Amino acid sequence: MLHRDGIDSLVLERQSRAHVLERIRAGVLEAGTVDLLRAIGLGERMDREGHPHDGSAIAWEGKPRFFIDTKKYTGKRMMAYGQTEITKDLYAARDAVGGPIIDEVSNVALHALTSSKPYVTYEKEGQSRRIDCDYVAGCDGYHGVSRASIPSDVLRTFERSYPFGWLGIMSETPPYPDLCYCYHSRGFALASMRNPMLSRYYIQCDLDARIEDWPDDRFWEELKARCPKDMADSIVVGPSIEKSIAPLRSVVAEPMRYGCLLLAGDAAHIVPPTGAKGLNLAVSDVFYLTRALTETLKSSRTHHLDRYSETALRRVWNAERMSWWLTMLIHQFPDEPPFERRLRENQFDYLHVSEHVQASLAEQYVGLPFEGY
Ligand code: DHB
Repeated sequence: MLHRDGIDSLVLERQSRAHVLERIRAGVLEAGTVDLLRAIGLGERMDREGHPHDGSAIAWEGKPRFFIDTKKYTGKRMMAYGQTEITKDLYAARDAVGGPIIDEVSNVALHALTSSKPYVTYEKEGQSRRIDCDYVAGCDGYHGVSRASIPSDVLRTFERSYPFGWLGIMSETPPYPDLCYCYHSRGFALASMRNPMLSRYYIQCDLDARIEDWPDDRFWEELKARCPKDMADSIVVGPSIEKSIAPLRSVVAEPMRYGCLLLAGDAAHIVPPTGAKGLNLAVSDVFYLTRALTETLKSSRTHHLDRYSETALRRVWNAERMSWWLTMLIHQFPDEPPFERRLRENQFDYLHVSEHVQASLAEQYVGLPFEGY
């Protein structure tokens, strides 16, 4: 996006390209993400290979399955298309214009961030190097150097962890037709997809679960035990091609700007995977970030730059609240007080009967607009 606006940029990446392209992440794109990818010329393969979807089912143990019709309530469509595929498309777009990506770098450090001459140092193949720049976009994830470069008396972190993780698998099998969230006394389960021959499934697991203890057979058996019988019977099983465990947590670091450093994506915030907001939030951050840098570098006005943190955080907190709410609604919490259990059951009951609540969930699920809500 910076390139399209005539602004030079250089990407530093700690890993190799092969490693980045191997990592499987979430893959449900909000309508705004889909629109933005199309607008910047990255929609072609997504439109060809992605799977549009118009809502999600919720299967609550002991109740009939029902469908939250996001298309009906919002008029917008979402898309199942893997984050890894978007990364592939981004690499291709970058290569096509000869944009530099320097990978396998180490010891990245950010300097003079509150001056007008910031610079970045790093090592590559044993040699130290330096880049002078105008701005640093900190898109280096939660464990990256960017957020850690903001002084602790400036940064505030808000955090919530959850007492479980998600065990996910990818398998080259036809997916269950609907994206379906299952609430069950054995634990949460989710059926999702990437394309007509690639399925993605998750089950809630203990925090100390180990991949070695979850051979495919055990995974499929547990998944099916948590789904309604007709759904379990129609799930096509096969060998997994990827299996991973992720803990669930919610984190927001504020502010998202410090001098010439602008944080984006997981460098500033983490959402639990429930609701698939992580990638979409990174995309909206990048939208605001590009708008701010383009305005400032092309016109010397700083209206959007001055508001970057506030604007991005408003949308971030919305997704934080939505993913927290869906996480609380749909999981089993060990040792949960009975009062809270009843509240959860009532939340679901209210969602089930009220078109207003369904419309509200649909609006957030499909993604709030980047501006003007
Ligand atoms: C995925 C899909 C979801 O709807 C979700 O809430 C989390 C993850 C996925 O396909 O990876």
